[in-house]
Amino acid sequence: MILVTGATGGLGRQTIDYLLNTTPAEKIACLVRDVSKATELVEKGVDVRQADYLDYPALVQAFQGIDKVLLVSAIAFTDRVRQHRNVIDAAKEAGVTHLFYTSIQRSTDFVMTEVTESDLATEAYLKASGLIYTILKNNFYFEGLGHLIGNEVPEAEILVPAGDGKIAFVQRTELAAATAALLTSEGHENQEYNMSGSEAYSFHDIARELSSLAGRPITYKNSELAPYIAQKVAAGFPEFVANFLAQWAVAAKHGMLAGTDDTVERLLGRKPTSLREYLKTTYFPGA
Ligand SMILES: NC(=O)c1ccc[n+]([C@@H]2O[C@H](COP(=O)([O-])OP(=O)(O)OC[C@H]3O[C@@H](n4cnc5c(N)ncnc54)[C@H](OP(=O)(O)O)[C@@H]3O)[C@@H](O)[C@H]2O)c1
Repeated sequence: MILVTGATGGLGRQTIDYLLNTTPAEKIACLVRDVSKATELVEKGVDVRQADYLDYPALVQAFQGIDKVLLVSAIAFTDRVRQHRNVIDAAKEAGVTHLFYTSIQRSTDFVMTEVTESDLATEAYLKASGLIYTILKNNFYFEGLGHLIGNEVPEAEILVPAGDGKIAFVQRTELAAATAALLTSEGHENQEYNMSGSEAYSFHDIARELSSLAGRPITYKNSELAPYIAQKVAAGFPEFVANFLAQWAVAAKHGMLAGTDDTVERLLGRKPTSLREYLKTTYFPGA
């Protein structure tokens, strides 16, 4: 039996939807914090179990009878390592054999305090746990691009502190489909996969595509950090989130998200969504 955590969140829920295409519901379980948010999953016949990553006894209980766990990583700005260790220890105690962990791609050793440090600690802990592991190093979601550049087509200019850095964006739904394929196929024991799009794009590329789709010149300029953060705060983001967004851009500048890999493409059996396709459907729906 496969259990997916974070089932009331984006990636977890979408992964379960893909699992349901190939696997009977009675072989799928999920972990949620709030059962009232999972009524649809109950209706689909998924075995909904309740536990917080911080509640060790409840985790051990929730993992009874489970063979494989997909641990959807905890949210930044929380004690991620403690939560992940709890899940790993509880899985082991409950007799789970194989744990998949959603990490972040690190094509370079750039440090993002809220992300890469806790991922490295979790990966090391998982590898030493004795569980069979599979580490999914997910790239930046296409769905996060709007946070970086805004959700409206820019008038004439994109300002981001990303230099000439590139990101091999991947759509979260496609990551979910690829993750479901990994969970239901053999041969992923003690493996690590970069889960990226098949192409990496710079913000110059993004501006060029937006320009071509909008039919007017849109250019990209590298921004200094302070004005970018100020612009995000003015747009309504809390300061720590504005800082976090700037950090993702700086990570891109340092190549952390630039590596491409064909794992997602192979698992999907087709090219993942390209930048142009994503921008067209997101920024120019109906065009
Ligand atoms: N690659 C990227 O671009 C990117 C972007 C954003 C996040 N991430 C990372 O990838 C993860 C999955 O992404 P997502 O889009 O699915 O995020 P999401 O929609 O925020 O979902 C996170 C899920 O984790 C659950 N969760 C958080 N803390 C928990 C805890 N203490 N105990 C039990 N469950 C807990 C949440 O439960 P509730 O529904 O109860 O809140 C939610 O279901 C995120 O958590 C984050 O670590 C990656």
